[in-house]
Amino acid sequence: MNRFDPQAVIAADLAAVDACLRANLGSDVPLIRQVGEYIVGSGGKRLRPVLLLLVASALGRNDSRSHALAAVVEMIHTATLLHDDVVDESQLRRGRKTANALFGNAASVLVGDFLYSRAFQMMVAVGEMSIMRVLADATNSIAEGEVLQLMNVGNADVSEESYLRVIRFKTAKLFEAAARIGALAVGAPAKTSEAMAEYGMRLGTAFQLIDDVLDYSGEVEQIGKNLGDDLGEGKATMPLLRVLAAGNASEQALVRSAISAPETVDFEAVLDAIRRVDALDFTRAAARAEADRAADLLVVLPDGPSRQTLLELCAFAVERNA
Ligand code: IPE
Ligand code: IPE
Ligand code: MG
Ligand code: MG
Repeated sequence: MNRFDPQAVIAADLAAVDACLRANLGSDVPLIRQVGEYIVGSGGKRLRPVLLLLVASALGRNDSRSHALAAVVEMIHTATLLHDDVVDESQLRRGRKTANALFGNAASVLVGDFLYSRAFQMMVAVGEMSIMRVLADATNSIAEGEVLQLMNVGNADVSEESYLRVIRFKTAKLFEAAARIGALAVGAPAKTSEAMAEYGMRLGTAFQLIDDVLDYSGEVEQIGKNLGDDLGEGKATMPLLRVLAAGNASEQALVRSAISAPETVDFEAVLDAIRRVDALDFTRAAARAEADRAADLLVVLPDGPSRQTLLELCAFAVERNA
């Protein structure tokens, strides 16, 4: 599966979310509009809004409130990307130059702040305290995850537990929030919103595990990002952790030195070690296990096209190449 296309079920809702996003990029400061429109207009899969809208439509129906909340979630995601690409010194995103490459680090950081705070203005306008709490907590966790990851950079002794905590916080928390809010927005019972939150968390974990696979094995044209960014930054993601656990002595030594001194890294040699121990398949299997557990949680939803599409999203998270 190449692209995820939930069009049939929520096409009109997604169009409303995009309109809401664009309507909220307004500012009297031209650079904000320029950078904001550049990143929002560059596409992206809109997975987090899709998640929120599908959960809401499975349990009730979408309206202008859920559209606004889906736009808030995407805006928070967009702000994290602006900041993340500065931190990671990334040059390519969504098949285009990153905002930091085009406008500079300062503009990216500051417009990221604008998008975060605009998202908060939008959620206050909705005015639902339980939903504001979910979004405030998720945003805080993303920041924690990114800082924890920064502290792990260059450390070849990162535990799998610490790595999983990073991906849960930096990525899965926002998926969790989107799915939970989809349920809260239509007044679903607590048991249902809890199940949806766990669904989002497991889906997001699977999604990031595959992101970490694609950083070694993707096609630049399809993922729209450069390969090797993780290795180049000394990030011990699951493929490398697997070589450290299952590789022979020289493979382990190679990966340890790649993590602690990434400027000297031989990408091809690391790839050979990754291939020999099947580290990418090992990581895919971990992603599949998370996605399968996510799929099981969908039993709380009434059967129908929205539930079916949420099930397909589990397969997409694991099988995607974009
Ligand atoms: C990118 O997320 C950041 C990660 C959590 C891996 P997406 O892959 O959802 O990014 P876009 O919005 O589709 O570009
Ligand atoms: C993305 O992390 C998570 C956030 C933006 C918070 P990564 O750095 O792993 O993702 P990409 O590869 O840049 O999209
Ligand atoms: Mg990055
Ligand atoms: Mg990053």
